[in-house]
Amino acid sequence: MIPVSLDGPALSLRELKPSDAEALHTVYGDSKTVEHLSFRPRTVDQCKAIIDSAVKDAETEPRTVYMLAVLHDEELVGAARLAKDERPHSAQIGFALRHDMWGRGLGAELVQLLLRLGFAELRLARIWGARSPENSASEAVMNKMGMIEEGRIRRHLWTGTAWRDSIVHSILSDEWAG
Ligand SMILES: CC(C)(COP(=O)(O)OP(=O)(O)OC[C@H]1O[C@@H](n2cnc3c(N)ncnc32)[C@H](O)[C@@H]1OP(=O)(O)O)[C@@H](O)C(=O)NCCC(=O)NCCS
Repeated sequence: MIPVSLDGPALSLRELKPSDAEALHTVYGDSKTVEHLSFRPRTVDQCKAIIDSAVKDAETEPRTVYMLAVLHDEELVGAARLAKDERPHSAQIGFALRHDMWGRGLGAELVQLLLRLGFAELRLARIWGARSPENSASEAVMNKMGMIEEGRIRRHLWTGTAWRDSIVHSILSDEWAG
């Protein structure tokens, strides 16, 4: 496999490794960060399991899932995921930053790095993301990066306590400014 290594002005994407578990927990273990995501705050052990799966996914050929660490000043501050759909010209992205990193333009940079991975490196034709209808930060970031609102998937997810609709945003390769 060819390890992902992508640098932006303030953030980098790289493959996850087992020693990232505690740092990943500062992102996925925080109830504020996962408030609008499809799962409850993760434990350290659950973060270890996410990393184990990420390592396996990275070694699978052909690779369809890219579950990556987001670094700022060499510190893990977020998680990013790109997963190809059954039709492999298209992929879904997901992203999260540690709470104390919000509001500095880093979410927009993170989405831009994922679009670069998908369009420039993997030559995809379409990239989409699904957010909670209440997730105004995700709405703003995806809109800002040119991911236009496509519609609502009703009862898209079971959150553990209730069904949740999702609002889908997408961008096509020829719409991406690079
Ligand atoms: C979504 C997330 C990555 C945004 O990160 P961020 O670094 O705060 O975003 P940015 O600073 O790059 O903001 C980009 C734009 O969104 C706007 N924005 C950010 N948070 C917002 C909010 N809560 N409400 C409205 N607009 C918001 C910013 O003002 C900015 O717009 P501008 O450039 O016109 O000023 C971050 O909130 C996060 O990690 N949330 C938890 C995980 C999550 O919900 N992921 C998305 C799953 S679909």
